[in-house]
Amino acid sequence: MLEIRHFTVENLPDGCVTDAEQPRFAWALESDGQDVSMEQATLKVNGWSTTTKEQVAVPYKGKRLKPFTCYSACLTVTDNRGQQANAEAAFETGRMDTPWDADWITDGSYKFTEKKVSPRPMTFRKCIALEKKVAKARIYATAMGIYELTLNGEKVGADYFAPGFTSYKTHLQYQTYDVTDKLQSSNELLAEVAGGWAVGSFVFTRQNRVTADRQALLLELRVWYEDGTSQVFGTDESWQVAMDGPVQMADFYDGETYDATVKPEQMNWHNAARENLRCHPRIRAAYGAMVTAHEYMEPVSCTKLADGTLVYDFGQNFAGVIDLHIQGKKGQTITVRHAEILNPDGTLNTAFLRTAKATATYICTEGDQYYSPRFTYMGFRYAAITGAEESEIRVGAWALYSELEQTGSFACSNGMLNRLQQNIVWSAKSNLMDIPTDCPQRDERMGWTGDIAVFAPTACYNFDMSRFLEKWLEDVKAEQLPTGGIPNTVPVQGYGFPATMPVMAIDFWGDACVLVPWAEYQARGDVEILRKMYPAMKKYVNACRFWAGFGFGKNRYIWHTPATLHFGDWVAPDVPKMQQWQARSKWTATASLKNTSGLLARIARILGENGDAEHYQVLSDKVADAYVSVFTDGNGKMKEEFQTAYVLPLYFGMFPEKVRRQAADNLARLVEAGDWCIGTGFPGTPYILFALADNGHLEEAYRMLLNIKCPSWLYEVRMGATTIWERWDGLDENGVCPIGDDGTDLMISYNHYASGAVGAFFYQRILGLEPEQPGYKTFRLCPKPGGGLTWAKGSLRTPYGVIHTQWAIRNGEFALEVQVPVGTRCTLTLPDGSTRTCDSGQYAYSCKI
Ligand code: BGC
Repeated sequence: MLEIRHFTVENLPDGCVTDAEQPRFAWALESDGQDVSMEQATLKVNGWSTTTKEQVAVPYKGKRLKPFTCYSACLTVTDNRGQQANAEAAFETGRMDTPWDADWITDGSYKFTEKKVSPRPMTFRKCIALEKKVAKARIYATAMGIYELTLNGEKVGADYFAPGFTSYKTHLQYQTYDVTDKLQSSNELLAEVAGGWAVGSFVFTRQNRVTADRQALLLELRVWYEDGTSQVFGTDESWQVAMDGPVQMADFYDGETYDATVKPEQMNWHNAARENLRCHPRIRAAYGAMVTAHEYMEPVSCTKLADGTLVYDFGQNFAGVIDLHIQGKKGQTITVRHAEILNPDGTLNTAFLRTAKATATYICTEGDQYYSPRFTYMGFRYAAITGAEESEIRVGAWALYSELEQTGSFACSNGMLNRLQQNIVWSAKSNLMDIPTDCPQRDERMGWTGDIAVFAPTACYNFDMSRFLEKWLEDVKAEQLPTGGIPNTVPVQGYGFPATMPVMAIDFWGDACVLVPWAEYQARGDVEILRKMYPAMKKYVNACRFWAGFGFGKNRYIWHTPATLHFGDWVAPDVPKMQQWQARSKWTATASLKNTSGLLARIARILGENGDAEHYQVLSDKVADAYVSVFTDGNGKMKEEFQTAYVLPLYFGMFPEKVRRQAADNLARLVEAGDWCIGTGFPGTPYILFALADNGHLEEAYRMLLNIKCPSWLYEVRMGATTIWERWDGLDENGVCPIGDDGTDLMISYNHYASGAVGAFFYQRILGLEPEQPGYKTFRLCPKPGGGLTWAKGSLRTPYGVIHTQWAIRNGEFALEVQVPVGTRCTLTLPDGSTRTCDSGQYAYSCKI
């Protein structure tokens, strides 16, 4: 039987509210038959109908959609055997640029002038009486700051940190909440607005008021009555505001203070004032992936320290908020501090949080009560609680991250590798927090471009990243400098390093504008992401080319910019100081230019920009040639040897064929001399295993992957890591952090996904699963067993359906099973080199090994 699965509108399986003029539809298919493909699909929306052979990103092309309207999309699919399946998907349009029947409002008496802190949270309220029967009601809301709504005492929606983090000067999201069933004849609507990213203190220099001088709210409650009339209740000066609500302090880094003894009737309510904003972004229906609560975490142990502090261990490092059920006394103050690791004496190690206080303080009222922060989050495994006895509290926590569907899974016969896979997934969850962040705990949590540039392929295996990345890439475009450089963090939001940034382009970090859309395109197959980013990519690569262009002869293609302006081989463990990582930027930047220009040439070809394709291909080839001529002896040996210097040209295909194998042998020799330990920083780490495995050194790649000596991936696992560390040597054999004065200002986080970029190797080489055509319309399955693994299995929800694959080695025989989704084709290569092509269905093959 043919079935339609995962019928999405704008990549959402349900609940889509969109301002897109041409929402995109997609669907996957399932069938119990073999060799099934889609013959055609008929999609009907709003009187428009199309018949198509596509299933990914099929755009609506009918007459103009109306704002505030519910639509339904009807899909009929016919397969190549004449079977049919039907499905329906409902979606709703948002405001579609309808002018707001509401004003931005604020507390006009609040002058927020303190530096390096977040403003006091504001609470707005409005009483709304309704006389007629409600057919449909929606709240459309946004804020400068982060907001949460309460209607008649109940939280509205499941979002945290709405309206989300965007490049506020350009884009601002609004949220749509269906409150049809929540309205009564008399209603009280409350909006609490904290500083968040727009007004609160952010980035490690603790900038505040970056986008607005104080918080502001813009909201409409639109009510459609059963009698066909409608009404809008918009924010205006009749709303009341108070600055002395229960949330007394809220800041992403410092935490939250909540006084439950504060009652609304005691608050100093006064009329709100209209606010003139400093910037005027386009306000669009939320198009990213909002942060919500996911796993409920329960502590695995509680230890009472000598001073009475209770230390809870959640057994897992993660990003989120504590969840407390309390039997309290009025005025009792409970303090919760958070950390990723403990000191040897069992107290929390908060040194690496730098200025972040990461503290939740709760002042109790009398009796049974509940508290969980809503305007902050922390990265932690341990929580230290003072002010309460163990018997008075029930402690849990919520993992917070963007609403992302986990699409990939991987497991194998090595338990430590399985833990590493889990650590990669947890570090992704902890850092996919509305934007891709570097870490969730210290005073950063910024949109560091380099981190997602290297991690995007792995993220795209494990999660459906489409909405999350499309949103962030809009900001990459918006924040691009006129000179073509991409800021190191997106959104910039107060970050200003290095001073020369406005004119500069920085390798690998800036490469995000090419590497991230490319990874997303490979995973989802929607060419629009390339089209949208193409002008920005071109501008960026041109800027890189400009900065690399100083010198004579071949040196005209070597990127020599002063090392202090690059990050180079960032956190490479084979050299101890930050300056030494940066000193490798000549190699990393040059290789990166070869890679981005080469990818740009491929993208140009896909988009039909053939002149550009030619131009960037020539550039890419010249840079590759310069790298090999200037940095090597011509026979595959680097004049200055370090792992990343070999890895990049090997992975990016820069060595002439006749010396490639020699270069790989040299890398393998270097790796062996280093006891199969990792020596790469951010740029080399994602690719080192590929550089070895694809060039005749598969066993060396496995040896490195399975190494448990420091520095290595599994060393972290051996030391009990539950997430990926920022630094390979984050803890020594005694469990103590050895990081001293290395120029990084105590830069060690235990939850940084960048070196988790190795996850792509699990899918692409251990399982052997790679798209041939983007979106896996056709894909390769070419497992490369090794390292003593006896089995591996995994799955991937592609846009067309779910691929399942597993292999096992028994008695010298390699047996593989694969499920190929409807409408796709798999080219399967077994370890003995035999190749087959399989259309949809289940297959099992084996060979001698
Ligand atoms: C961040 C990184 C980032 C780096 C750039 C660090 O402070 O945490 O992950 O990419 O700076 O140098």
